[in-house]
Amino acid sequence: MELKPPVGSAVHRAPSSWRPDSWRGHRAEQQPDWPDLQALERVENTIALQPPLVLPDEILGLRRSLADVAAGEGFLLQAGDCAERFSSCTEDGVRSKLRVILQVAILLTYGSGMPVVKVGRISGQFAKPRSRPTEVVDAVELPAYRGDIVNSPEFTAEARRADPERLLRAYQHSSASLNVLRALSRGGFADLDQAHAWNQEFVRRSDAGRQYEKAADDITWALRFMSACGVDTGSQSALHQIELFTSHEALLPHYEQALTRYDEKRDAWFDTSAHMVWIGDRTRQLDGAHVELLSGITNPIGIKVGPSTTPAQLRALCERLDPERAPGRLVMISRLGAGKAAELLPPLLRAVKSTGHHVVWACDPMHGNTFVSESGYKTRRLSDITAEVAEFFAVHKEEGVHPGGIHLELTGDDVTECLGGGMDEILDTHLGTRYETACDPRLNAGQSIELAFRVAELLREHHSAR
Ligand code: PEP
Ligand code: CO
Repeated sequence: MELKPPVGSAVHRAPSSWRPDSWRGHRAEQQPDWPDLQALERVENTIALQPPLVLPDEILGLRRSLADVAAGEGFLLQAGDCAERFSSCTEDGVRSKLRVILQVAILLTYGSGMPVVKVGRISGQFAKPRSRPTEVVDAVELPAYRGDIVNSPEFTAEARRADPERLLRAYQHSSASLNVLRALSRGGFADLDQAHAWNQEFVRRSDAGRQYEKAADDITWALRFMSACGVDTGSQSALHQIELFTSHEALLPHYEQALTRYDEKRDAWFDTSAHMVWIGDRTRQLDGAHVELLSGITNPIGIKVGPSTTPAQLRALCERLDPERAPGRLVMISRLGAGKAAELLPPLLRAVKSTGHHVVWACDPMHGNTFVSESGYKTRRLSDITAEVAEFFAVHKEEGVHPGGIHLELTGDDVTECLGGGMDEILDTHLGTRYETACDPRLNAGQSIELAFRVAELLREHHSAR
């Protein structure tokens, strides 16, 4: 059993020099070239008058759950789209994403016997950092697509122009998506009784889908067993609804500032655009605008930890973003790539441990494993993804640190974006069939389920060895 960290104050005290706009004195990487700054300011002012998307009480609830995870008593599942589209903020779009998140979550819970904290990359994951600011096609150079919150993916000058009105549309689509999400989480759809119904027809036919059906049968039996023993399962709300928190990369400080609100009761600031926000691997500069903005808010903060991260940088980020050493305030999301964790991860784990920060360590096995296939598609191999997760668990065992979570890009749709997967293996020649992502390749429902079984097994092994 790992030692429980001291219970810290979940409310975060902003540094005295911090203001919601103090980030403006720092360099912000990965920003669009806004053509009309006055229009941008008008939109910011409009958003600042809108109601919050999430409330401080909910954010503090997530902080408490993550504190448990940091103490080794839970597991974080953070999953969803790489880049949400405005057009997929529909009832069907949200339902299909929630369905696969529920399937993965139930397999992790059932397989590991641990509470799973569920956080979607959903209801606001619209902004994308890019490796190049422009894209060249047939000798024509245009600004890169930076997500629906900035511009549109079609390759025309008009579509690629950064349009500040899109910030407001992002707020509206987040709000509509969240509304459906909240309704589905509370109502019958998320009821454990429905575990079979979450398995869509096209998944059911696959190997992973059939395995899932067996697990769902077991869960149904376990529920019947509890009722037969006299447990009133009908009155247990935890069996009939779920809590799904929202998250996105806090890439556009103008948008995040407009939704950052002061809570008088707690004398603290909250970014009400999502429950959790994260800093990308390209924007984690200690003296940069993103770190400055997030250093003042109470929300849990994710930090993407890529292969270039040094132990000294990580220590400095911990000090800056979590000076009170509050358990679960930070989620370190390692995305190193298969074959690299054994060498790169131990010094990073030790650096954080030695400073007394009780962070959650989560594994993003997606972003270090992207490559362009022979057929020209940006893709990832399920085998690399699984390998990185296994390495992550092995290193954590070696270092005596709780492997606290997993961060995935997935979709409930029947897409062909990542290679591999059981008997229904996706090959390079299949990628073009349904390659629908607006940015990075996502696991389809069958691949997500296959991975979930593997992660549940790793979690179970890890805990039975304790
Ligand atoms: C992402 O999560 O979609 C992303 C761009 O990640 P990273 O910052 O780790 O590259
Ligand atoms: Co991505």
